[in-house]
Amino acid sequence: MSKLINLLTEGADCNDPISITEYEKAGGFAALKKAASCTPEEIIAEVKKAKLLGRGGAAYPSGSKWEHLLHITETPKYIVCNADEGEPGTFKDRFIMEKLPLKLLEGIIIAGLVFRAKAGYIYVRGEYRKIQKQLIAAIENLHAAGYLGRNIAGSGLDFDIHIVSGAGAYVCGENSALLNSTEGKAGRPRIKPPHLAEVGLFLQPTLVNNVESLTNIPQIVNMGGDTYLQKGHPDSGGSKLVCLSGHCVNRGVFEIPLGKVSLRELIYDPQLGGGIANGGKLKFFHLGGQSGPIGSIDQLDTVYSYTDLKKAGLSVGSGAIVVMDENISIIEYLKSVTEFFIHESCGKCVPCREGNHQLLKILKKLSIPGEATAGDLDNLRRVANTMTGAAFCGLGQTAAASLSSAWKLFRAEFEANIAAKVAGRTT
Ligand SMILES: Cc1cc2nc3c(=O)[nH]c(=O)nc-3n(C[C@H](O)[C@H](O)[C@H](O)COP(=O)(O)O)c2cc1C
Ligand code: SF4
Repeated sequence: MSKLINLLTEGADCNDPISITEYEKAGGFAALKKAASCTPEEIIAEVKKAKLLGRGGAAYPSGSKWEHLLHITETPKYIVCNADEGEPGTFKDRFIMEKLPLKLLEGIIIAGLVFRAKAGYIYVRGEYRKIQKQLIAAIENLHAAGYLGRNIAGSGLDFDIHIVSGAGAYVCGENSALLNSTEGKAGRPRIKPPHLAEVGLFLQPTLVNNVESLTNIPQIVNMGGDTYLQKGHPDSGGSKLVCLSGHCVNRGVFEIPLGKVSLRELIYDPQLGGGIANGGKLKFFHLGGQSGPIGSIDQLDTVYSYTDLKKAGLSVGSGAIVVMDENISIIEYLKSVTEFFIHESCGKCVPCREGNHQLLKILKKLSIPGEATAGDLDNLRRVANTMTGAAFCGLGQTAAASLSSAWKLFRAEFEANIAAKVAGRTT
């Protein structure tokens, strides 16, 4: 039986992804027309029934987020789509924006209708230049067809969507830094509360959702929340786009139903990862991007769902799965992860700005025989815990997640080069 599903990716093979005629022929905008004849409460009820969890990484229930914003009376409201996609190993939003831009835009327009929003913004990763151009062209087509502009879909609402380009900072994917950057300010996180639903873009009530989350909205409206839920896991409906990369045979974006495929199948099934390249052996996999946990072969039978992964100390995160073979040293791998976070730390708070440097310093010592002491290992874990507990935003709070999980799985590798253990040396 196929482990793949084409719930969200249906239509991804269209030759002209920004043609309104082609999209309509394939059933496009049926959801928007249906939404225009529903109350906001009815649409939100379907999103809640679908148990759609935010696909940007934090897995916050979209239905509750939408309900919260609906209850806020202040206007104008804004819709912001997070297309920053800075998480290494993650390229599924790129896939959606390349292949299914009109489905994403339909999802944003439906959100605009629900909240009677003034405008929508898509904050697109700076490196995705071609995608930005394609989205601008798609928006022009939508204007010409009457789906954007004045009185959209006969609803009485005037609504437009603007494209904002990021400039290559990972922290700008954090929702409050993203709003600051959209406003033209430095891309640094805001203190929360106030929640962005209350004080968001231009200090107005704002919905921030990931590309994949919003692209799921048309199909939830079309098929209803209950049907969507049944396609996935009882706690989180529908499908997930996963990004396989690293040492597996097949690399790319795959759509799987949530709760029906194990990690083993994801990595080894011929339709999915296809096993380890060059006849190699799996050593570990890194889930959800650089900010996610590392897992080992003992966890391969865990089912890929938000609930099952969490129980196993793992997480879905962005959907990235970086597969590493037995030739990779865990210390060298963690050094490169930490270098990434040093590069991307915005410098606003001490635990992240300084903590990442301290982690790298100790990891470098651990990679040289006889250089580090048992005290360094204690410090490594102390710094990691402090960062997790005290950093200002999600970047610093999760920067040591891979290290903390790897410590439990590969302790011998951390200890191998400790001075007392190296033959002929004492501390
Ligand atoms: C450092 C950092 C980077 C992030 N990068 C992204 C990103 O590139 N794309 C994204 O959708 N969410 C990203 N997030 C999560 C967002 O803050 C937010 O949770 C998400 O956009 C909400 O949308 P969702 O509920 O649909 O997932 C990031 C969070 C942090 C802390
Ligand atoms: S944790 Fe602190 S220094 Fe790191 S990115 Fe967030 S605000 Fe900036």
